Amino acid sequence: MILAVAAPDTTHAPVFALHEVPLPAIAAAEGTPCYVYSAPVVQARLAGLQQAFAACGHPWALHYALKANSSLGIARLVREAGVDADANSIGEIHLALRAGFRPDQVVFTGVGKSPAELTDAVGLDLKAINAESAGELDRIDAIARTQGRRTRVALRVNPDVDAQTHAHITTGLKSSKFGVPIDDAPGLLRARKDAAGLEIIGLHVHVGSQITTLGPLCAAARKVADLAVALRAEGFPLSHLDLGGGLGIVYEGGDVPTYEAFAQALVDVARPTGLTLIVEPGRTVVGPAGVLLARVIDVKPHAGGGRFVVLDAGMTELMRPALYGAFHRILPVEPSDRPLVSCDVVGPVCESSDSFGRPRELPDPQVGDLMAIMDAGAYGAVMSNTYNRRPLPPELLVQADGSWRTLRRRQTIDDMLALEQA
Ligand code: LLP
Repeated sequence: MILAVAAPDTTHAPVFALHEVPLPAIAAAEGTPCYVYSAPVVQARLAGLQQAFAACGHPWALHYALKANSSLGIARLVREAGVDADANSIGEIHLALRAGFRPDQVVFTGVGKSPAELTDAVGLDLKAINAESAGELDRIDAIARTQGRRTRVALRVNPDVDAQTHAHITTGLKSSKFGVPIDDAPGLLRARKDAAGLEIIGLHVHVGSQITTLGPLCAAARKVADLAVALRAEGFPLSHLDLGGGLGIVYEGGDVPTYEAFAQALVDVARPTGLTLIVEPGRTVVGPAGVLLARVIDVKPHAGGGRFVVLDAGMTELMRPALYGAFHRILPVEPSDRPLVSCDVVGPVCESSDSFGRPRELPDPQVGDLMAIMDAGAYGAVMSNTYNRRPLPPELLVQADGSWRTLRRRQTIDDMLALEQA
């Protein structure tokens, strides 16, 4: 777990390597910016979750939220670990199938599913489609009947629980666009109890991401569990409760619950329902397993007395700081006894929001220095884009033996223009 050793914002960090592969060697061979992931860290985190749920003695299934990192190589690693998938679009469903998941290992979530997505998903006979509205239930029913099928669905309910996280990733307040108000759920399910195209098998909830206490997760789970008990008493043959993802990671110090505490808390709520517990973790699996490796390409003083340190990575590679004001540790990769100086660490994109951290104390950065932006394995590469015509960065996976392989090569200008015509 070499990625976990550095202290928050360590300034005189020693050279750190991913499983004996020095990041400088990776940078020299592959160029920067690039994402570097550790296979053993992903595997260890998956195993940690599996062990924690297995120890609780209640039926469970883990569905990795592909949206956090859907690189084909990462998805394959997840499948090989025996964990199933949560997809948020037909693209993620097909990615999952290409990574070797069977359709019955995939749940399909998403606040808006197009007719084409629903037709495709129904035809694939996935484990479940998490429906987000009465209208969507009816559309699934109609498509399923046309195809001569009964489609397994879970209804996503909105419990009106504050996840106490960033507003942009809060999804369970009644003002959020997700799911149906929990109080409306019984009525709209009753009205569809005999729908020929639907098999109503579960309830789904997800109140937000980067949640660092168990309170909101349990509050939402309890509301959904109570509803499930009531629905079963009415004769709905439910089989699972899908309690979403949402366990956060440590970006900047502080604590997050252990996997054991997370699993136990959710199982304690699910057990009385007798239903299988599903969880859809994303960030906690891959976040700490990845760094964005970047090089300093300019240093200049600014009027405030500090300096701008311009990296060759920006909001195009990692947009979390620009989008959410998110904190990521920035560590110099190579040791240095230079004095600490105050820096605004920024990217090269034409936006003032293209900033990774200000101010940060770093050992007097020089052009050419390598920096690792930590905990970038989740919602990093998947959210990268080509603004300013910047090519998508490569993604590299380091194995336990210290070798690494390319999961995605760097985009070329020809790749970028391949879909265009003048
Ligand atoms: N299930 C559902 C229905 C979700 O919407 C999400 C995340 C997850 C599971 C996985 O949640 P996790 O375990 O990763 O917290 N781009 C944002 C995060 C967006 C999360 C969206 N939903 C960020 O960079 O923080």
